[in-house]
Amino acid sequence: MTADWSKIEALPATKLTDLFAQDSERLSKLSLDVAGIHFDWSKTHLTTDAIAAFEEMAQAQDLAGKRQAMFSGEIVNVTEGRAVEHTAERGEGKPESVAIAQASHARMRTLIDAIEADALGPVRHILHVGIGGSALGPQLLVDALGRDDKRYDVGIVANVDGVALEDMFAKFDPAATLLVVASKTFTTTETLMNAESVLQWMTEHNVEDPYGRVIALTAAPEKAMEWGVDETRILPFAESVGGRYSLWSTIGFPAAIGLGWDKFEELLEGAAEMDRHFRLSALHENAPALAAFADLYYTQVRGAETRATFAYDERLRLLPSYLQQLEMESNGKSVTADGEPLGRPSAAITWGGVGTEAQHAVFQLLHQGTHLVPVEFVAAIEPGDTLPDEHHRALLLNAFAQGAALMAGKQVEDPARSYSGDRPSSTLLLDDLDARTLGALIAFYEHRVFVNGVLLGINSFDQFGVELGKEMAKAAEKGGQTFDPSTDDLIKRAFG
Ligand code: F6P
Repeated sequence: MTADWSKIEALPATKLTDLFAQDSERLSKLSLDVAGIHFDWSKTHLTTDAIAAFEEMAQAQDLAGKRQAMFSGEIVNVTEGRAVEHTAERGEGKPESVAIAQASHARMRTLIDAIEADALGPVRHILHVGIGGSALGPQLLVDALGRDDKRYDVGIVANVDGVALEDMFAKFDPAATLLVVASKTFTTTETLMNAESVLQWMTEHNVEDPYGRVIALTAAPEKAMEWGVDETRILPFAESVGGRYSLWSTIGFPAAIGLGWDKFEELLEGAAEMDRHFRLSALHENAPALAAFADLYYTQVRGAETRATFAYDERLRLLPSYLQQLEMESNGKSVTADGEPLGRPSAAITWGGVGTEAQHAVFQLLHQGTHLVPVEFVAAIEPGDTLPDEHHRALLLNAFAQGAALMAGKQVEDPARSYSGDRPSSTLLLDDLDARTLGALIAFYEHRVFVNGVLLGINSFDQFGVELGKEMAKAAEKGGQTFDPSTDDLIKRAFG
């Protein structure tokens, strides 16, 4: 059933500063504390009326029923006939699926213990090859949490461009490298090509038994075995864990070994806390739901085509690209789950960067451009550095000041120097960027995607849009195929 947007479309477009002036309790009504994260949506145009209208729509779309169906392991990914069970990886889901996830985590832990005990020979470098969901999640975790205590050098290579691998070869000792091949399907061309090249590099450097130093992370263990990985070094995970939702599964191996098992567990616990919050809280006090309501208000009512996240924390510099896959691969679709035309804008284009750098590069457009871009600031109260306090103070004050400036604007006589204001932003302020809070933060984003998908009628869990390009690249690789004049010309120019 398509949603009725009429009530939401009829909401008055009151200015943000007026919303604050009209309601002295606005801040407390539009903010929330969950799992070590303070959420503040008071500088968005959400109001209690808007939230009530969205709650009504959520009821009509059976959001609660669909949420329950996901946590119960029902077939929620209808186009692929699959359950959606990444939450089972953190202990929240159908008991049988939770048990399977726990067994696969236990297997991963045993293998990590063996590696730490040198059972696979000396290991100093972990070279993880994988792409998309099989790379972006572990990369974010290792980058965000691995600053202080680097147990291993972890290198994650996604691109088929040999430059990426060569850069790793220059840093790593082949005799002390463990190759981790991460692929849910174990069919992804780039990943398998990169894996072959790593084996070749090891062979060229006289590493004895390179295959003996390969670990596979996959939902298709039989394919990994066919490829040559010994069964004892395959860490499987469930088919019902989607690629872009898979960092909680054995795909998180580089984080579990690189950061240590305790941190990996804390990550899962933080995510589970957010799961419980999402599953059990009423929508008007439910962080993922409120964030999604704001997203939908801007895309569906105000015509915003993009949404920007700025991490005011160097450790979260990969967050915008992680979110790009999570949000755009999940909700970038033009048909509903029933195959009907969406008939409305899909979810926004996700982009972003790191503060304060981005202020000196792209914030011009945010303050004075003609596009409406809802902005999200993500920062942590505890500093990640040990330099004098002034650094962290400047970092946070800049984030807060940007939000204030976007909302307040400034009118002067010279139009070039005027700021319209009334530009929305939300702020996610973490107590501290540790494994637990990062787990909660990522789970928050996952559930927000789910709510957006349900209210738009989209199946957030398939990704057929990536297939056509893959097929055509394979056809081009085979040769003898003509495309269009432009593509044929490019192929000729490159390869003669
Ligand atoms: O091409 C898109 C995609 O299927 C993503 O959804 C997935 O995360 C990525 O490729 C990698 O796939 P795999 O883990 O099967 O190698």
